[in-house]
Amino acid sequence: MKKQITFIDLFAGIGGFRYSFEKCGCKCVFSSEIDEACKKVYEENYGEYPKGDITKIDASEIPDFDILCAGFPCQPFSICGKKKGFEDTRGTLFFEICRIIKEKNPKVILLENVKHLINHDGKNTFNTIIFTLEKLGYNVSYKVLNSKDFGVAQSRERIIIVGTRKGKFDFEKIKKKKEVYIKDILDSDGNFEYLDENEYTLIDKKYIKRQPSGLIFVGYRNKGMWKKGVRPNTEHLSRVHRQPNRIYSVEGIHPTIPSQETSGRFWIYLNNERAVRKLTINECYKLMGFPKEFKKDSNLSNAYKQIGNSVVIPMIEEVARQIIKQIFEEEQDG
Ligand SMILES: C[S@@+](CC[C@H](N)C(=O)[O-])C[C@H]1O[C@@H](n2cnc3c(N)ncnc32)[C@H](O)[C@@H]1O
Repeated sequence: MKKQITFIDLFAGIGGFRYSFEKCGCKCVFSSEIDEACKKVYEENYGEYPKGDITKIDASEIPDFDILCAGFPCQPFSICGKKKGFEDTRGTLFFEICRIIKEKNPKVILLENVKHLINHDGKNTFNTIIFTLEKLGYNVSYKVLNSKDFGVAQSRERIIIVGTRKGKFDFEKIKKKKEVYIKDILDSDGNFEYLDENEYTLIDKKYIKRQPSGLIFVGYRNKGMWKKGVRPNTEHLSRVHRQPNRIYSVEGIHPTIPSQETSGRFWIYLNNERAVRKLTINECYKLMGFPKEFKKDSNLSNAYKQIGNSVVIPMIEEVARQIIKQIFEEEQDG
């Protein structure tokens, strides 16, 4: 019988990694999260109340495991270019990850972060991370992946870093899925919040085009335009309008769902109904690939914040599947 692959869920949030890895048959043996509201949601869904602040947890308290998963908060490293490895990262949450790696020696490390991590602090942060993992004995691969390539109607770019003790993870083997659009995931009924016609402006059809990202900007709420530096005749460009006021067509893809937007001001234009409404909280969770049975925080602003902080399930699921295939199954074959 094959041994079940185990993992730990650090900076667990509402368990996006856990959901994805469990779906692939792996077993979670430890989780840590500092935020009480997240911990409650996590317990409701997975039946386990995560341990708290990772800085207070001794690595010896963590059972042995195969894969370390962490979507950690990004912080600059104060010591620049000393090239000592993990000592250079002291005082940051990445240091906590390294401390656990050093003691537990997992076969695989899977880290996730915003795309901006690559250029953060003049590339110092990213270079230090890669260098440190290599010094800890890992072969490191990384790539920016976009959730829209995994059958989810959201453009969300994230850097995925995979470290392996044996072999090297190959991102080229990741399988992409057919594009889907916002219209494919909409709820058929619910308490929808529509805008009155006088509350928004649709832009002239001649300016409407699908952006390379798949987004189709069609209009804006009648407030909150950037005034400074806006050239005349550029009012039809989405970037002129503040993000919470932009309206996107359901025929396209949704922009990244951020964690800072706690009142859920995501506006969509329903081409068939010729109407504008707010995306529902359910639809936000679907745009992150969460199943409808997932139990959300009953406090709406918490629920918006938590989903904006999470990972996209089908994207992480495909990474998990490839890790299992490339690192664990090939190891058994070979
Ligand atoms: C970007 S979110 C990760 C979300 C997660 N990947 C998910 O799928 O929901 C980072 C998380 O780290 C948590 N966090 C920050 N500092 C922490 C600490 N010292 N110990 C444990 N968790 C911490 C935050 O509360 C937040 O939920």
